[in-house]
Amino acid sequence: MSEKRALFTTKIGVIAATVGSAVGLGNIWRFPYETGVHGGAAFLFVYLICVFLIGIPVICAEFIVGRGTHKNALGAFKQLQTKPYWQVCSYIGILASLMILSFYSVIAGWTLEYLFQALTGAMASGNTGDFSNKFNEFCTSPWQSTLWTVLFLLINYLVLRRGVEKGIERISNILMPILFVILILFSVNSLLMPKSSEGLAFLFSPDFSKITPTVVVGAMGQAFFSLSLGLSVLLTYSSYFSNQVRLVRSASIIAILDTFVAIISGIIIFPAVFSYGATPEEGPKLVFEIFPSIFSEMPGGYIWSVLFFVLLFFASITSTISMSEISIAFFVEEYKMKRKKATKLTTGVAIVFGVLSALSFGVLSGYTILDMTIFDILNYVSSNILLPIGGILFSIFVGWVVDKDFVKKELTNNGTIKVYTYRIIIFLIRYVAPISIVLIFLSGLNLIRF
Ligand code: PHE
Repeated sequence: MSEKRALFTTKIGVIAATVGSAVGLGNIWRFPYETGVHGGAAFLFVYLICVFLIGIPVICAEFIVGRGTHKNALGAFKQLQTKPYWQVCSYIGILASLMILSFYSVIAGWTLEYLFQALTGAMASGNTGDFSNKFNEFCTSPWQSTLWTVLFLLINYLVLRRGVEKGIERISNILMPILFVILILFSVNSLLMPKSSEGLAFLFSPDFSKITPTVVVGAMGQAFFSLSLGLSVLLTYSSYFSNQVRLVRSASIIAILDTFVAIISGIIIFPAVFSYGATPEEGPKLVFEIFPSIFSEMPGGYIWSVLFFVLLFFASITSTISMSEISIAFFVEEYKMKRKKATKLTTGVAIVFGVLSALSFGVLSGYTILDMTIFDILNYVSSNILLPIGGILFSIFVGWVVDKDFVKKELTNNGTIKVYTYRIIIFLIRYVAPISIVLIFLSGLNLIRF
């Protein structure tokens, strides 16, 4: 195809759009609840190791393939390797992106409902017990959360028809910095709460005996999920990078910003959890029970709650846009579908599984496999299994299969820049990332102990 591809126009645009994909409900909703379920600081400790030793090198691997070919996942693998089995990376990405889009939209739908509640002023008054009862009623009702899920997917559908640079870049350029600032303000508010020290101890003072295989598998999955890693989202974004973008530096900035937002979100949530007498092990409902209590006690709660849920909604949609692009591009390229039709198909699949996930908090809660509901299965299998498998494949592909000169050329921008961490990154990509992911899998399956 001779169609000219648009490149991100500014350096900030590159970072902002990629951070837009990475920062989302994964940081603000999933990180606190996973940390809560898995014992707090011990989980955070393993999480940080995963981000730096596995996350950054795998981001670089995706960037190398994407920027090096200026193609989306399927096209990139076709160009770099004639052996068709490497395209399995793309298929894993498509499967994972559809699974994530489905359950993610349920939580994004909750965000919309909360935005609605915030606008009506219901969020700025009330107490923790009330909020939690009301929320339970809401998410177990057979139609309420279903409707919000579908509404969110329809909005996502409309945005997707506007194209890469205009839609994504503009929205995320303006809103992400505002989100950072208000999260920092909220964290100061939480630090002033009566039991903030208990919350901080839970988050930052690790009890290493709590590190079990389940915790490690969960932390690795959270790192992949939060960085949008292993499903070719970053590959696709980097295919729009210009040749001047420094890949290792960008990867590190993205990982650091993303982790920063997650930790700030922990600093907001845990002091509040302890101060309001809630429990950290609440699971997916945790932050939706805690945020309303925070707002009802905060001066100016009405404005803060509206602003926060608007921003959270945008943070979510920049993430869902990025994951939707994966399957849309696939349908367009592989089945020669029109973009419109591919967007409809992606949305349709997500609506079916999204509705099933929404209902799994209520009427379908009895349908479980290994104690996991439909929502839990989509969430667990995509983040903890598919994305890390994608990570193994990417690191092996770039570390061992692709031509070494190609890798070097990409990392050093064709020899024009000096990358001091070059050898370290290569070592992490070739050995550390794939081997640790495999070891973590084996320990999760109880095949090895550490
Ligand atoms: N990283 C996004 C978040 O934290 C979620 C996501 C996962 C986006 C996978 C794209 C792909 O919310």
